[in-house]
Amino acid sequence: MEFMDAVLARRSIRRFAPKAVPEGALADILEAARHAPSSGGVSSTYLGVVRDESIRRSLAAASGGQEWIATAPVIIALCTRLNPDPATMAKDDFFLQVNTDRFGRDLIEYLNAFPDRRAARLLWDTGAALIPGEHVALAATAHGLASCWIGHLDIAKVSALLGLPDGIACTFLVPIGYPDETPAEKTLRPIEECVFYDTWNPDARAGRNPGVGDEEVL
Ligand SMILES: Cc1cc2nc3c(=O)[nH]c(=O)nc-3n(C[C@H](O)[C@H](O)[C@H](O)COP(=O)(O)O)c2cc1C
Repeated sequence: MEFMDAVLARRSIRRFAPKAVPEGALADILEAARHAPSSGGVSSTYLGVVRDESIRRSLAAASGGQEWIATAPVIIALCTRLNPDPATMAKDDFFLQVNTDRFGRDLIEYLNAFPDRRAARLLWDTGAALIPGEHVALAATAHGLASCWIGHLDIAKVSALLGLPDGIACTFLVPIGYPDETPAEKTLRPIEECVFYDTWNPDARAGRNPGVGDEEVL
């Protein structure tokens, strides 16, 4: 399947057929995730391949009771090795420098003083597995499989169910399998509303999108 065909075909599927995921497809899916870019080139993602039915059911229950997740024959558990605690880093650490540039010193100092250190570390790393996860979703689509992102999960509970060591957390799940439903067509924002060229231009945007005021967008 061509890249754009996979991008356009991918939809969130929440009911799966009782049909196994072929080993070759699974191997491609995992390889696609392994090739994802990572911050600083330091790959921190671990991919759990969960097939066991009772673990799948437990993961579904720990995902806000989204029981349908367990209908997928395979659940990919996107896990992240947490960075060292930024509160213990040297003041000139590159991680701190980059994130001070991004968010400002006040937020860094606030988070570094936050008493629950595990929660603070988790917050920094919660997005690390997003790109590998989307590689999973797109590679699955390219193999005629379907998937759905699961961000609504109890991270501590799911990590414990998977037996993850301290310092590694499961931040997202991606159930995959053959679809057993056809999703309703979705309405996308028009491309002119999503894109701006060079700088934000309210007049040009309003002209292109009557009814969409910038104050609403902001
Ligand atoms: C980070 C992230 C977390 C998500 N978490 C959930 C979830 O917990 N449960 C769910 O049913 N869908 C979840 N979704 C799927 C979105 O609802 C879905 O992508 C969106 O409605 C657009 O539909 P589409 O994926 O079919 O294009 C999540 C999507 C993303 C990107």
